[in-house]
Amino acid sequence: MTTRILTGITTTGTPHLGNYAGAIRPAIVASRAADADSFYFLADYHALIKCDDPARIQRSRLEIAATWLACGLDASRATFYRQSDIPEIPELCWLLSCVAGKGLLNRAHAYKASVDKNVEQGEDPDAGITMGLFSYPVLMAADILMFNAHKVPVGRDQIQHVEMARDIAQRFNHLFGQGKELFTLPEAVIEEDVATLPGLDGRKMSKSYDNTIPLFGSAKQLKGAIARIVTDSRLPGEAKDPDTSHLFTLYQAFAAPTQQADFRAELINGLGWGEAKQALFTLLEAELGEARERYHALIEKPADLEDILLAGAAKARKTATPFLGELREAVGLRSFRSQAASGVGEKKKVGKSARFVSFRDDDGSFRFRLLDAAGEQLLLSKSFADGKSAGLVNKRLQSGEALDIREQDGGFGLWLEGQCVAQSPAFADSNGLDAAIARLREALAPQE
Ligand code: TRP
Repeated sequence: MTTRILTGITTTGTPHLGNYAGAIRPAIVASRAADADSFYFLADYHALIKCDDPARIQRSRLEIAATWLACGLDASRATFYRQSDIPEIPELCWLLSCVAGKGLLNRAHAYKASVDKNVEQGEDPDAGITMGLFSYPVLMAADILMFNAHKVPVGRDQIQHVEMARDIAQRFNHLFGQGKELFTLPEAVIEEDVATLPGLDGRKMSKSYDNTIPLFGSAKQLKGAIARIVTDSRLPGEAKDPDTSHLFTLYQAFAAPTQQADFRAELINGLGWGEAKQALFTLLEAELGEARERYHALIEKPADLEDILLAGAAKARKTATPFLGELREAVGLRSFRSQAASGVGEKKKVGKSARFVSFRDDDGSFRFRLLDAAGEQLLLSKSFADGKSAGLVNKRLQSGEALDIREQDGGFGLWLEGQCVAQSPAFADSNGLDAAIARLREALAPQE
């Protein structure tokens, strides 16, 4: 059996070296496994939640698409697409919105953090918070559930979202699955041994710290960034401690074990920081040089990228379109035509069935009604002096014992021990009467 792996990349920035080591490289490696069925996509609808600059959205989509392909993602093997090219995703998002609890979404970290910040600043709790931000996890659930992904590789900050997707899937399955698992329950995968790269200043490499090394800048830009890596002030000839040097950590993320051991020894033996930076540059050039050329070739031919992504979307929709059709059926958005073919009023056993409703009459006596699945009255009981006797008769009727049904007053009566205990309404003709008796028998038939 293949494992379906799915992950999305929000298109708000330009990929840097940290994204490459932490997400892109491991995802591409994973997509090459024999049993992997990978779905990787540009989460450009999610990007709109965080960014209202159209030029930046467009630029980022192009750069990220080119990056993944240049780094070796095989688009004929993996399914690589833009979220916004799959109209089934926002449609599914709505179906899921109708079962996702607001309380569940209130607990989402990202939304809560925004509310907390507003409160702290004495603002209205929802100041500046859009419905997009609030519903972010539902859209993400749609991304994941649309393709029944088993595994979802994400950063730690996204684990909660994958768990919410599970919750929502479970609820949907329970409500509409009729015992069938409509949605696969996804699992978050956190790659423990994947490198979290330090940035130029030693903190985690992140756009928000402005400490990144660009992935596909020119060789000159790469050199410039490496020159800005903060080191201690030891001079050439003085021993350096590799374990407290983030330059060494960066080197390690791209070097083979023997190269790592050599570099460690050289640092301890007093290699100058200038030379150490040159060694890192050489290493990164070897890893990225060719990919950089492929990247620029792709960026210069956006029409080709468009074709690749549209082909990816077509491939993804081969799964999404029929599956969404199934889901629409499940929730009751069905063609009227199929209803005519199978006869209007088609008797589909849905979880609901007949039910007893007890009530007190105006005169204070106790009675009950039996309603069929459609809510139509099948029986009205006689009046009982107390609730207990009414309950006992009610119970006998559900016990599965043979029914004593007698036609009377244009309808029928139900008899127990020589007494009429309940009466049907009157019917216009014998067809109506027979049909009602059949429904009564069905309603009171012993459960399998
Ligand atoms: N929210 C994810 C992030 O910011 C991106 C994303 C969108 C995603 N949809 C997804 C990740 C579905 C995994 C699965 O990193």
